[in-house]
Amino acid sequence: MYIYKSMKKYLVVALGVVIAGCSASGDNPGKEYAPNMYHSVAYEPLKQIKNKESGMWVSSLDNGVGEYYSSNPNNPHEMNMREPVANTVRRSKFGFIPNRIHKDSFALAERVLKSPLPNTPNVEKEGKVLYEKFCDHCHGAKGIEPGKVGEVFLGVPAYTSAAIKNKGEGHLFHVISHGKGRMGAHASQLSIEERWKIVRYVQKLQNQ
Ligand code: HEC
Repeated sequence: MYIYKSMKKYLVVALGVVIAGCSASGDNPGKEYAPNMYHSVAYEPLKQIKNKESGMWVSSLDNGVGEYYSSNPNNPHEMNMREPVANTVRRSKFGFIPNRIHKDSFALAERVLKSPLPNTPNVEKEGKVLYEKFCDHCHGAKGIEPGKVGEVFLGVPAYTSAAIKNKGEGHLFHVISHGKGRMGAHASQLSIEERWKIVRYVQKLQNQ
């Protein structure tokens, strides 16, 4: 009986040591049970390490390659991310697909280009701010009388003039993007989203 009791004490101590050995702290990585559960073997798209030995010394997997190895042998050049298929059209960072309508094809632009923005007062308000920075000086605050630059530049039409008043949003967007006649293109200065915001505000000025 006594022997059993003292053995029990030792057993408890031994178990305690084993459990304590499992814990990780500081520089001690501890022991892991079924490491495949914690270490993702997923391919990381933005990183490529081809050296199979890389990270071998920390590897706890049994797949024969180091922990840092990250390459996909099934893809060309062992890349993790595949190149987009040929002729893929990149979306802009706002998610819009840029159009490839020729700069002089105003009728086509008017027919097919539609504003992706919601019809909210906020869009119009932001369009106004942009208009004041990029258009006001030539077209004037109301788009009727030319602004300070327009007075010198000459030939700036009023948005309410018969030729422009009934033009649709696609036409306006195209004019801002590529310019027209003596007006220059604004595509390099304004994002697609910003151009559509200005369109909304110009439409308001057309109908004042
Ligand atoms: C440097 C001066 C200048 C600036 C800046 C300018 N425009 Fe113009 N804009 C013109 C002139 C000049 C015309 C007349 C072009 C022509 O027919 O030769 C014009 C024409 C237009 C037309 C009529 C196009 C048509 O159908 O005939 C619209 C709409 C227009 N501008 C909008 C804008 C908007 C919106 C902005 C700001 C993003 C802007 N413009 C910036 C000078 C300017």
